[in-house]
Amino acid sequence: MNELKRGDELKLEILDAAFEGTSVARYEGMVVFVENAVPGDIVIAKLKKIKKNYCEAKVVKIEHPSKLRVEPRCKYYGICGGCKWQNVDYKAQISFKQQQVKDIFERIGGFSNLNIMPIISADDIFYYRGKMEYSFAGQKWLETPPLKDEIDAAAEDVKENPVFLGLHVPQRYDKVLDLDECHLQSPVSNKILNFTRTFAHRNNLPVYSTERNSGYLRFLVIRESKRTGETMANLVTFEDKPDIMKQYAAELKENVAQVTTIVNTINTKKAQIAFGETEKIYLGSGCIKEVLGRHKFSVSASSFFQTNTAQAEKLYGVVREFGEFQSGDVVFDLYSGTGSIAIFISDAVKEVVGIESVESAIRDAEKNAEENGISNCRFLLGDLKDRLTVDREWMSSHEKPDAMIIDPPRNGMHPKVVDEIMNIAPKKIVYVSCNPATQARDVKLLCAEKYELKKNQSVDMFPHTYHIENVTLLHLK
Ligand SMILES: C[S@@+](CC[C@H](N)C(=O)[O-])C[C@H]1O[C@@H](n2cnc3c(N)ncnc32)[C@H](O)[C@@H]1O
Repeated sequence: MNELKRGDELKLEILDAAFEGTSVARYEGMVVFVENAVPGDIVIAKLKKIKKNYCEAKVVKIEHPSKLRVEPRCKYYGICGGCKWQNVDYKAQISFKQQQVKDIFERIGGFSNLNIMPIISADDIFYYRGKMEYSFAGQKWLETPPLKDEIDAAAEDVKENPVFLGLHVPQRYDKVLDLDECHLQSPVSNKILNFTRTFAHRNNLPVYSTERNSGYLRFLVIRESKRTGETMANLVTFEDKPDIMKQYAAELKENVAQVTTIVNTINTKKAQIAFGETEKIYLGSGCIKEVLGRHKFSVSASSFFQTNTAQAEKLYGVVREFGEFQSGDVVFDLYSGTGSIAIFISDAVKEVVGIESVESAIRDAEKNAEENGISNCRFLLGDLKDRLTVDREWMSSHEKPDAMIIDPPRNGMHPKVVDEIMNIAPKKIVYVSCNPATQARDVKLLCAEKYELKKNQSVDMFPHTYHIENVTLLHLK
């Protein structure tokens, strides 16, 4: 093989989908991960990185398009990066995801002969999200090399009032793509987005800058219930400016009547996250109500809640089915959020104990149980790595769980939590995850001695993205 160099252009036949929305091809035996390609394409791709065992490339020309390609609905497709597979037929997206879960469990978990059930796909593939987090930026993002007109237009914008509001460009947390529509949440959400940008312009509100550690606007978080229509706008700011917020709340409500609650989260720290130390409510209750199955849930500004309501119902259905719960069972729901899984399964068991580290989520969970007339769920605040170990008194005085449901964040479980689960040794574990890679790692540890992996089922909560939710069932050996 001739020596490959960065910038070389190769003709490639795209063989399969790979991780994080890329695809894979082979060039003279070498694996090439290709951006912006679809399996079945024949493309010319430019090499970006050359490693010992593989290369990375980006499509510069499609010579022959794949039959799996469809026209993306979004005008920002290809720039925004949020919906990498929007140019692929939904059925094909689903089969890529199914294959990826299988590959991950084989490669990271070392499992072969997996009992993988068919993935549960989504009925609604647009406007499915319950939450969107938009970022403010003081500078418009331009593709490099920018067109001269674009530079002039952006310079003009910056001079007048440098407020841009949208989504981050992939892997660039300092670059924001100014959007006026997104097909993931709803037309109402788009109205809130556009009103908020106009309001900021009109009132000359400065964007927060981490470099200067000053400014005001940081994020706009929109939550919307798909079942009740209740809608929250949460402006995350660096400072507390009650007069501005009062004016924003009044004008937003007047312009977008569907908004039911308006919150101001104040984050005075440097870390660019849409959470803060203080939450002030300027309209409504500070919560929205969502419905899952027979139950209603209050969701406040900082609590985790599943982002796709229709699919969350199907996901929780899988948890219930895998759990095969008995009326005498005590179940621990680890990483319980607002208590939605605990409440969803509560009528099938004797007791559910939810454990969660965010205080407001615990409050929401307790309120949710009460409002649904449920008395066999209790929720404990704490970091799981300490809650299961340090608080031995509580653990030893409480009945041992028959089953555990585990639903950690993307980075999976702390090794101490895995160890402690093995000490407690419930008969069944239902492990829910939005990141099959960390799940496979944790399941491998659990199965090294004590558990057996019985079943695996994925639910597509995030159409057009490469993300997938996966549920595994483990039995004590
Ligand atoms: C993926 S969410 C699952 C929530 C819930 N099971 C549901 O379906 O809505 C993960 C939850 O774990 C919580 N969490 C993250 N790290 C934690 C830790 N170390 N200890 C306890 N809870 C944690 C987060 O606040 C979040 O509510």
